[in-house]
Amino acid sequence: MSPPDRQAASLDPDNWEDLRAQGHRMLDDMVDNLRTLRERPLWQAPMPEARARYRAPLPRAGGRLEDAHAQFMAEVAAYGSGNRHPGFMGWVQGGGTAVGMLAEMLAGGLDANLGGRDHMPIEVERQVVAWMAELFGFPTSASGIFLTGTSTANLCAVMIARDRALGVEVRAEGVRDPGIAAYASRAVHACIVRAMDMTGLGTDRLRLIETDADGRISLPALERAIAADRAAGIKPFLVVGSAGTVDIGALDDLAGLADIAAGAGATFHVDGALGALGVLAPQVAPRLKGIERADSLALDFHKLGQAPYDAGLLLVRDAAAHKRTFSYGDAPYLRHAERGLAGGEWWPCDYGPDLSRSFRALKVWFMLKTYGLDALGGVIGRACDLARALAARVEAAPELELMAPVALNIVCFGYRGGDNAAIAADLQEAGRVAPSTTTLSGRTAIRAAIVNHRTGIEDIEALVEGVLALGRGQSRTGEAGAR
Ligand SMILES: Cc1ncc(COP(=O)(O)O)c(C=O)c1O
Repeated sequence: MSPPDRQAASLDPDNWEDLRAQGHRMLDDMVDNLRTLRERPLWQAPMPEARARYRAPLPRAGGRLEDAHAQFMAEVAAYGSGNRHPGFMGWVQGGGTAVGMLAEMLAGGLDANLGGRDHMPIEVERQVVAWMAELFGFPTSASGIFLTGTSTANLCAVMIARDRALGVEVRAEGVRDPGIAAYASRAVHACIVRAMDMTGLGTDRLRLIETDADGRISLPALERAIAADRAAGIKPFLVVGSAGTVDIGALDDLAGLADIAAGAGATFHVDGALGALGVLAPQVAPRLKGIERADSLALDFHKLGQAPYDAGLLLVRDAAAHKRTFSYGDAPYLRHAERGLAGGEWWPCDYGPDLSRSFRALKVWFMLKTYGLDALGGVIGRACDLARALAARVEAAPELELMAPVALNIVCFGYRGGDNAAIAADLQEAGRVAPSTTTLSGRTAIRAAIVNHRTGIEDIEALVEGVLALGRGQSRTGEAGAR
């Protein structure tokens, strides 16, 4: 048998200089693409011919990197989801940063697996976790882990709270009759509901508590629900506060929730996907009081934190409880060692659902080192100021209607008597500004979430003008149709 051909087996380039030159062209294209965002439509529906090329047969034989790059630029980059564009205000999406992009390239080049073992990328993740623990007033002994996003971070938090209430035996025995209940506002993100399902506790065990006029969880209603459960022999195990509700950005009274959770002997978790990083902005920070008392906190760097997708974080006050929920025990192929590469005291695979993990922390570390927390706080504060400016503009226009209070960076409004869903879709297709929609008290609202650091007052103005023009157009055709 002939020996393996080493050259044929490796996927490294034959000519590194050609690779370098092509890599520079790819970087240049992406820098230009970012620099000229405003000159192109925010979004355009993918061309049917382009879509069809992504139903191609299996590529048994490879091709040239420059050809794949050209195809990417023409067919993928040109038809992206638009969230980097300053006019993007849909859903709650960040716009990424140039520094984050470059850091992603370095992370890809390094190709580190952050499941565990003893290497510096793990120290970078620990550094960011320690910075966040300090920022949010958690003890230095707190643990934390990067995850895809707050959906997963919330799921992990519910698991930790479940194990705390039912005992770690539940991992082996499964959930039988839980006899426990969780509480959150009815405006809580659906991923908390899904977490109750995925943890085997059941969505019926999540009590969705009414909200007040500002969209914040009603503390008296929460207390009544807890008392009713207790009277029925059901133990409260988890109280979830929203630091920014997904629909309208309402900030729950976190200090009040911390008191109630402590009184009930329940874990206090904060979903801070949207607003937790508001602690960096003087306009928001005072209203997040109580976040430092959370047992766990989930947040996203890929929203107001401006990191490229994806970058969620879970912080847990009690590191031992965190590990109890996720540790593999002593799987022989994952044994920690006293020395060598299998050394290292902190293996992230003991603190979350993933074994293989990418180096998400690097882009956040680079961004914090490069921009600094003050600049990020400035960006978050500006997003909230722009939201207030939009709300004021809506209130000043008799044809428009503000449909929810504005506490953070989200404005829900509509054209009086108009079809708001059609207005949002028309705006998206026009490609200058892109809000999304939501339903409030049974009515469709245009929802503008100001997240992107590139968004300015001119984009707010373009949104208002766009809604007015489309709403008036609808009224005219409605009148014409009625005639
Ligand atoms: C309040 C809230 N919680 C959770 C999530 C889910 O976060 P992710 O999309 O990062 O999973 C979102 C997403 O918008 C959110 O706004």
